[in-house]
Amino acid sequence: MRKTHTNADMSHQNGITYKFGEFLNSLNENGVSPTIRKVGQRVYYKVKGVDFSTQNIYDLTRTGEHKEHGTALVSTSKDFLSKLISDLENILPKPLDKNVFIDYGSGKGAAIIHAKKIGFKRTIGVEFAKELHDTALENIQKLNLKNVDSFYADASKHVPPTDVSVIYFFNPFDEVVMEKVIQNLVNQKKNFKNDVYIIYGNASCDILKKHFEHMKHITYPSGATADFYKI
Ligand SMILES: C[S@@+](CC[C@H](N)C(=O)[O-])C[C@H]1O[C@@H](n2cnc3c(N)ncnc32)[C@H](O)[C@@H]1O
Repeated sequence: MRKTHTNADMSHQNGITYKFGEFLNSLNENGVSPTIRKVGQRVYYKVKGVDFSTQNIYDLTRTGEHKEHGTALVSTSKDFLSKLISDLENILPKPLDKNVFIDYGSGKGAAIIHAKKIGFKRTIGVEFAKELHDTALENIQKLNLKNVDSFYADASKHVPPTDVSVIYFFNPFDEVVMEKVIQNLVNQKKNFKNDVYIIYGNASCDILKKHFEHMKHITYPSGATADFYKI
């Protein structure tokens, strides 16, 4: 059954043992205050009814022709996204334009919600699983956020707006889809108003290297990785 990314079972991440392990790792890697902040943030989201839980996608309603090419939903945490953005800023020669942030394979909207709070003017998510997109819409509404949009679409069909500045991939799909997304980015490049950077978390393919300037690779203490590119 589990032959493709799409069929991967990630539900163990919602279990108490996994969460406790995460808590201990965070204490070990980040110390007491950041861990308490993280727990506080989770409690805040729980109270608001915001759902960023891990979810398998093989039984969800997926649109488009790439149903078997996507990965299960694992949401990006705010701390991790903040770290990625500050690591990107550290390698740039000039301040990052926090214009539009796009998340390809945006799940329940965690990264687009965090990116808005981090200071991007507008954030856009593209998600091919209807149920996850619906949850993203609910999460955005519960937090009463403006200029945070989730679109129900296959990533390969999305053409980024000309004022995009950061594009985020959190290992959403394999290279069949990535190749098509890259083609759209290459076609749109001449219209971009500012420098555009890509953050590719937990990369599962390296075809971005063929098309864009690879600026840096980082492996974090948790084992997560990030690759930073300039279009
Ligand atoms: C690892 S999760 C990342 C979620 C989100 N980016 C975050 O960081 O919180 C990958 C997501 O990509 C979505 N996905 C997979 N293939 C896709 C495609 N072809 N088009 C749009 N979304 C896709 C999955 O449904 C899943 O929600």
